[in-house]
Amino acid sequence: MSFYYARKGIRRLPGIVIKAASIPDPEVTEGFGSRAQTGLICKAAGIKSVLLVTDANLYKLGFYEKVKSSIEEQGIACSVFSNISSEPDLDIIEEGRNAAEICNADCIVALGGGSVMDSCKIIAASAKHPSRSVRHFLHKFAVVPDKTLPMISIPTTAGTGAEYTVGAVVKDSHGIKRSTVVIGLDVIHVILDSELMISAPQSVTVWCGIDALSHGLEGIAADVHSSFDDTKKSFECVRLVFQNLPLLLEEPGNIEARQHMSRAAFYGGNAINKQLAGYVHAFAHSIGAEYHIPHGEAIAYCIVPVMEAQKELCRERLAALSLFCGFAKKSDSHEKAADAFLAELKALLTRCGLKHGCEALREEDYDRLVEMIDSDSINYSPPKTFRDEEIRKILDRIRKGD
Ligand SMILES: [Fe+2]
Repeated sequence: MSFYYARKGIRRLPGIVIKAASIPDPEVTEGFGSRAQTGLICKAAGIKSVLLVTDANLYKLGFYEKVKSSIEEQGIACSVFSNISSEPDLDIIEEGRNAAEICNADCIVALGGGSVMDSCKIIAASAKHPSRSVRHFLHKFAVVPDKTLPMISIPTTAGTGAEYTVGAVVKDSHGIKRSTVVIGLDVIHVILDSELMISAPQSVTVWCGIDALSHGLEGIAADVHSSFDDTKKSFECVRLVFQNLPLLLEEPGNIEARQHMSRAAFYGGNAINKQLAGYVHAFAHSIGAEYHIPHGEAIAYCIVPVMEAQKELCRERLAALSLFCGFAKKSDSHEKAADAFLAELKALLTRCGLKHGCEALREEDYDRLVEMIDSDSINYSPPKTFRDEEIRKILDRIRKGD
């Protein structure tokens, strides 16, 4: 049973809840090599002892060294915890919290991708409240009294926006992924350093970039009342990806384009925090989980079929976005401008090397996938609530690449 009317009834609820939540509003430092300023940022914030958290691969690459030395140069203690895995679980988070306690950390510096960022959110929450078990912070909404420890985020990929989104995904003691909204997350600063992204494999650059674009686009389409500032950031997120991702396919070492992509991802994070995602993410999460397809690639398969299925409801917004990106003229009808945007999106995905149709997707799995998509979609504020038959049609389009 799909509980269509129940889902339809609560469609706006996540948007209302998120408006009431306290959202981080970090300062931003950006530029090639800008992580060398971490120490000065810590000093200005009155930090005395830092736990620098990263993962084993990044540790081996030595990316943390410039951060650590800049902190120590300011006379601030810095301990390194590098055990975060690609799918962090409670044990690792507990280890991280213990490391924070041992060094008496009053700040967590997160250096890494989405897994490191999400782990640090729970570490920063639980280290502030050591009398509570780490498990306590894995509820759907983890309310952290007096905020988490301050966190400084240094993302190494340009895509998830996890550097300051309030959501975190970690595995519980049964190995099941739990998604938590950390109410009271205190990200005080984000450092966007393109030097960390310059040698990323092309697949990472591409699919993370498409993920960032999807955050801006779903934010624009969401059924949430947005401020002018938030809407502008989401528009800018999408435009920056269109302008810079193709450049990086030709010139992966283009520093300016890398900086722009990290800014796009940051704006995408704002969209997730303030406007929420939608069905593109519900489809991609379900297909990604079922067939072990990386998040950004799953997004790439889903984004056009899902947006086309919602086009009637957000035609004006797509038309405005199309004009903003330079894909349409003022004199164009909304229909023509929205179609021009979707055509440019398809062309970008083709240029990025997206295969025609998702071969892994199987018709015999549709029942399970529909249930997963129905269930995940209630976390977002999409412009409409799909019936199960509509979801099946979209799955068909994703599978065939129509
Ligand atoms: Fe995403």
